[in-house]
Amino acid sequence: MDRFAGRVALVTGAAHGIGAAVVRRLAAEGASVVLADVDTAAAEQTAAALGPEALVVPCDLTDRASVEAAVDAAVSRFGRLDAVVNVAGGALGHPDQLDGGTDADWAATVDLNLTGPARVVRAAAPHLTRPGGAVVLVGSVNGLAAFGGDAYSAAKAGLGVLAKNLAVRLGPDGVRVNVVAPGTVRTRVWDDQGGPDRLAPMYPLGRVGEPADIAAAVAFLASDDAAWITGVTLPVEGGVLAGPLAALDRLADGT
Ligand SMILES: NC(=O)c1ccc[n+]([C@@H]2O[C@H](COP(=O)([O-])OP(=O)(O)OC[C@H]3O[C@@H](n4cnc5c(N)ncnc54)[C@H](O)[C@@H]3O)[C@@H](O)[C@H]2O)c1
Repeated sequence: MDRFAGRVALVTGAAHGIGAAVVRRLAAEGASVVLADVDTAAAEQTAAALGPEALVVPCDLTDRASVEAAVDAAVSRFGRLDAVVNVAGGALGHPDQLDGGTDADWAATVDLNLTGPARVVRAAAPHLTRPGGAVVLVGSVNGLAAFGGDAYSAAKAGLGVLAKNLAVRLGPDGVRVNVVAPGTVRTRVWDDQGGPDRLAPMYPLGRVGEPADIAAAVAFLASDDAAWITGVTLPVEGGVLAGPLAALDRLADGT
């Protein structure tokens, strides 16, 4: 597939995990990619495998000026911007509010996972191709049901209605805005919890996700194949939201 030939995509959180898979997928489909991340050393390693049409820019989602500088650097290097994918985010490991979490913990988590993506769209929207531009925000199943992590989950849930508002505002210009909400995905965030596979029994499809599973959905929503889809949250989650039957069956089996 060559859905992004001649197009430019900026991806935050592109150094590691899901974001790295997204830039690999978009580049494989012909995009010039901008890897925007706080970890520029790792982003350079990811970019090295992508060829000359990959640009690394420093970007801290929690700093408005940094986000704006990253977008400006992308536009001045490539002269256009067709897709923006916000992948950067994370649970930050703070305790939940009922377990002693502070207002500062809450604010930091919401700043990274909700305000940060809004900063990215605010900076990028004026530059997006009209018509045909696309925004994809990476949320989480935590924003759709109770999986723990209250501040993180509330922030990820907020992306759904943020996308709807942006979809309505940008729709008349031919710019689409959608969310991909992953279930458990095999990335480094699970390393200190013994890896993600212990959660596989919750999943009707019998396994956790791989970064490439999420990248495929992001690429679809960023492409013209999704030309009439905007304002939606697409769960990409191996069926975990379908219901508790997989876990109940395994409980009954004693597995
Ligand atoms: N891994 C999962 O199971 C899972 C499940 C659902 C949703 N998600 C979401 O997917 C996204 C990517 O997660 P991942 O598992 O690939 O994590 P990861 O830690 O491997 O990658 C996150 C990337 O974001 C970058 N980043 C962190 N803070 C940043 C900041 N302030 N500004 C710019 N970049 C920053 C990191 O350097 C890193 O490259 C996150 O938004 C996460 O909440 C992950």
